[in-house]
Amino acid sequence: MSTQPSLCTEIFGCTLKNPLILASGILGTTRDILKRVFSEGAGAATIKSISVNPRKGHNNPTVLNFGPGCINAVGYSNPGVKKAVEEYSDLSGVGGPVIGSLIGSNIEEFAQMAAAFDPLGFAALEIPVSCPHTPGFGKMARQDDPDTIREIVKAVCAHTSKPVFIKLPAAANNMVELALAAKEAGAYGLTAVNTVGPGMLINIETGRPYLGFGIGGISGPALKPLAIAATYQLSKEVGLPIIGTGGVSTGADAIEMIMAGATAVGVGTAVLSGGPSAFAQIAGEMTQILAEKGVSSLKDVRGLAHGE
Ligand SMILES: Cc1cc2nc3c(=O)[nH]c(=O)nc-3n(C[C@H](O)[C@H](O)[C@H](O)COP(=O)(O)O)c2cc1C
Repeated sequence: MSTQPSLCTEIFGCTLKNPLILASGILGTTRDILKRVFSEGAGAATIKSISVNPRKGHNNPTVLNFGPGCINAVGYSNPGVKKAVEEYSDLSGVGGPVIGSLIGSNIEEFAQMAAAFDPLGFAALEIPVSCPHTPGFGKMARQDDPDTIREIVKAVCAHTSKPVFIKLPAAANNMVELALAAKEAGAYGLTAVNTVGPGMLINIETGRPYLGFGIGGISGPALKPLAIAATYQLSKEVGLPIIGTGGVSTGADAIEMIMAGATAVGVGTAVLSGGPSAFAQIAGEMTQILAEKGVSSLKDVRGLAHGE
């Protein structure tokens, strides 16, 4: 009788029961929601990005599903660092490793956030420099620049002993340069990728953009080929662990991401559309595909796309 293939993966010093990680910003920020995500089968979870001050975010509508994906301009609505530190003061009972996501609009804010999160039970910290639709942060503040990334990573690493991931923009021509800047400054790993954008969709009845903010970031199946290519290229040229994120909604998508070189796989829009049961569904499909291939471990397919 053959044994079940193992989906275990090792990343940021933890062994995850499967490589599926809840992507940032998809579900709310409470411990109860994290518990639910783990009970539904996630291997790890990322919190919604937190800023120093509370933020209301953009006006509704902030999220729209369209044929091949989703477009959003949430605008980093979050309760601010003080409330977040209270909420995450004890993560011991949530059921798995949690990644803290922090944002800043200048270097001091990144340092302040890292210092506030360092004593908490996060297994790693993630820094998006890549949001395409929030003034003061990410692409709209030109944080997706090698020198700025170097400064941000240095400031965060100086205030935490936790492994630090830089979350890169989708479809950037200089993706490898950005990743190498992060590596040189002390980043542990890369999250590839954030939403691609800005994008816009217009309601032809009103003649106005659907989203309250007008422009937004594109995620879901439409993003998958960009995310796979980014993961492949970064895995080939940078040599850091990668959380491959973008458009994964089936076991086959997740295995594709692992074959591109990812160590773990972020899942966002699939959870937004289908709920947290997406984790068990994707993990089940992965197990079945590996079993059909006669593969006993994810290690045997990781990076396969690179050939010999
Ligand atoms: C509604 C929504 C909100 C998001 N908020 C954040 C956020 O707060 N921080 C962040 O780093 N990424 C955020 N993202 C990006 C996702 O974490 C992920 O990188 C992206 O959606 C691609 O993965 P997917 O195709 O599986 O959704 C958000 C995405 C969506 C759809």
